[in-house]
Amino acid sequence: MPTALITGANRGIGLAVAQDLAKDHDLILAVRDPAKSAAIPRARVEKVDVSDPESIAAFATRVERPLDLLVNNAGVYTSPPRETWAVNVRGPLLLTRALAPKLAKGARVVMLTSGLGALSSQADSLVRKLRSPDLSFEDILALCDRPPGGYGASKAALNALTQLFARELPEARVNAVDPGWVRTDMGGPGAPRSIDQGAASVLWACRIPPDGPTGGLFRDGRAIPW
Ligand SMILES: NC(=O)c1ccc[n+]([C@@H]2O[C@H](COP(=O)([O-])OP(=O)(O)OC[C@H]3O[C@@H](n4cnc5c(N)ncnc54)[C@H](OP(=O)(O)O)[C@@H]3O)[C@@H](O)[C@H]2O)c1
Repeated sequence: MPTALITGANRGIGLAVAQDLAKDHDLILAVRDPAKSAAIPRARVEKVDVSDPESIAAFATRVERPLDLLVNNAGVYTSPPRETWAVNVRGPLLLTRALAPKLAKGARVVMLTSGLGALSSQADSLVRKLRSPDLSFEDILALCDRPPGGYGASKAALNALTQLFARELPEARVNAVDPGWVRTDMGGPGAPRSIDQGAASVLWACRIPPDGPTGGLFRDGRAIPW
């Protein structure tokens, strides 16, 4: 059975994605509070705070190879910018980099992004940086130290990170997925989409074939503008 790792799987979209993947994957659930994890068949629960580089590094040593799917789902919306970037950008960067040697050939990596990360909504200076052909992982880490905006800017940087990893890991399928506006704790009760609808958008990218797209941005299986 293939192995999937999902961050932030205690509630919301991450939990729904984990519950569906449990049908045909062994799971590693990377969560802040294992005591609050739902009982999911074949799931190993690991305590990880993705805002903490030491927590990520220690966790990565406990992950065995091969890993067939990595879902960088954990995210925060209303936190101060430094924490928002630590969770939404630096976490996926450090975790994906640490686990890259353990990814199976053809592994999928899925980044949970947002329509609020569209480049058309970002400051010109950030757009120029993120669009630079010379953009590097170190440039993105530097942005995390001095965040140039809040949630939307962090997701724009996550989209750029997705493209960097797609180039860095040509044998993997690395894509960003927008679940839409979803009725989770983050999205609130007024959001138009159910958790299952948001999760379905993510699960599409989790299950793309080995010759499927990489370095793309998708909602409900369709490419959307950066
Ligand atoms: N809901 C929407 O409308 C929407 C729209 C676009 C994109 N997204 C994205 O979809 C993803 C999931 O969102 P959601 O709506 O399911 O949010 P949610 O209900 O607020 O759940 C967020 C999850 O992330 C975890 N998390 C937060 N900080 C963490 C950290 N430092 N280390 C480890 N886990 C951490 C939380 O863990 P705890 O349970 O321990 O707090 C929780 O399990 C996020 O990346 C979000 O930005 C959501």
